[in-house]
Amino acid sequence: MDSTKLIKEKLPRHIAIIMDGNGRWAKKRSLERIMGHRRGMESVRTVVRECNDLGVEALTLYAFSTENWNRPRAEVKALMALLKRYIRAEINELHEKNIRVQAIGALENLPEDVLKVLQEGVEKTKNNSGMVLNVALSYSGRDEILRAVADIADKVRQGALATADIDEQTFSGFLDTADLPDPDLLIRTSGEMRVSNFLLWQIAYTEIYVTDVLWPDFSRDHLYQALVDYQTRRRRFGKTDEQIAP
Ligand code: IPE
Ligand code: IPE
Ligand code: MG
Repeated sequence: MDSTKLIKEKLPRHIAIIMDGNGRWAKKRSLERIMGHRRGMESVRTVVRECNDLGVEALTLYAFSTENWNRPRAEVKALMALLKRYIRAEINELHEKNIRVQAIGALENLPEDVLKVLQEGVEKTKNNSGMVLNVALSYSGRDEILRAVADIADKVRQGALATADIDEQTFSGFLDTADLPDPDLLIRTSGEMRVSNFLLWQIAYTEIYVTDVLWPDFSRDHLYQALVDYQTRRRRFGKTDEQIAP
């Protein structure tokens, strides 16, 4: 797709993606599910590169949910190994591109070796000023909200926060995404019309784009199609159409 179709000023600041359909991609080819995950990494590379080139501020990728721990042990193990390999293989290039790597979720549940490689990547890129690549790992929106509530309760008990001061902005500041704007666009691949516990608080007014394309098949063109579609949306935020700018 021709990138000139995109209006540079109307690009989403923050894109979030539910990268779904790796298993089905593999099944269609009579391959092991892990082969789908492996091919899915190619799509991750493509999307990171394209979003960075476009000047998107933040890209949040749903890589592993809290619920995904309930998958067969062999698949979980293979996914963790793949994750470690991805970070190892990509971190230098991400750093060269001035990308800041971050992670959200209950990271303490990750295997020690994966956590170590992840933390090294986060540390190495922490002063970069370019796109934020935010990876959701062992993540669920409800878990994130509960952790925030527990932190807030602690602060109130210590007298460091007054109940009256708990507004939306304060609450957002206790979430894993504290330093990021809410996503403008949420993309889900493989056709599923659900949010699967992703960024529940943050997507209050996010534009949702669902494509039937399976994640390993998701290409630059598909990303551009999602962005072109996003640019046709009228984001009213509860107002009337007449109240918002032309
Ligand atoms: C998404 O693909 C990757 C993860 C959830 C880790 P799936 O593995 O969910 O693929 P499908 O949905 O079974 O096709
Ligand atoms: C959502 O996909 C989680 C990730 C993409 C990491 P799932 O495949 O786990 O979601 P459900 O089970 O179809 O809702
Ligand atoms: Mg799935």
